[in-house]
Amino acid sequence: MRKVRTAVLISGRGSNMMALVEAARDPGYPAEIACVVSNRADAKGLDFARSNGIPAAVIDHKAYPAREGFEDALDRHLRSLGVEIVALAGFMRVLTAGFIARWEGRLINIHPSLLPAYKGLHTHERALADGARTHGCSAHLVTAELDGGPVLLQAEVPVLAGDTPDMLATRVLEQEHRIYPQALAIVAERLSHSPKDVK
Ligand code: GRF
Repeated sequence: MRKVRTAVLISGRGSNMMALVEAARDPGYPAEIACVVSNRADAKGLDFARSNGIPAAVIDHKAYPAREGFEDALDRHLRSLGVEIVALAGFMRVLTAGFIARWEGRLINIHPSLLPAYKGLHTHERALADGARTHGCSAHLVTAELDGGPVLLQAEVPVLAGDTPDMLATRVLEQEHRIYPQALAIVAERLSHSPKDVK
């Protein structure tokens, strides 16, 4: 079986990236983590990638006057490493429609809500403020509509009496770590049966 080369893009802690790296250690897993890229040099997740022998690069968006310049550099880096799937994992830059089109069907994200509910930021605070009974996370393909692409997998968690945003986030994060590797496997399985036709 061919392992599909996958890049994980992070901006911070990187716990979802770690879950993908752990899953990819299984010889039967259909993807390998070919590289980690952060737009911030101080992203904590970089240390984990480096100490696990995964090529880790910083491409600082502040070094580019326009979003397109940053994305071109990112795109070149990914292609130079033969990347076929890009997994966003707490990557805090909005990508342009041009970049997304170039990676159509190969760009995935993990979002901390049951989409289409609570797109955007501060999902746990908003779910609690609404008195939601359930909350959760979604792994989805990325399209030009922010947090609006087709859902691959979702996991639901109960909202419990007395929950703070942090308590709820912790419960959701556990599920993110479970479903994101499964979602990457779904996309990688699809691609492993098709030729490497990155646009
Ligand atoms: C996660 O909650 C993810 O759903 C959201 O940002 C957070 C990133 O956490 N997109 P981590 O960097 O993966 O630990």
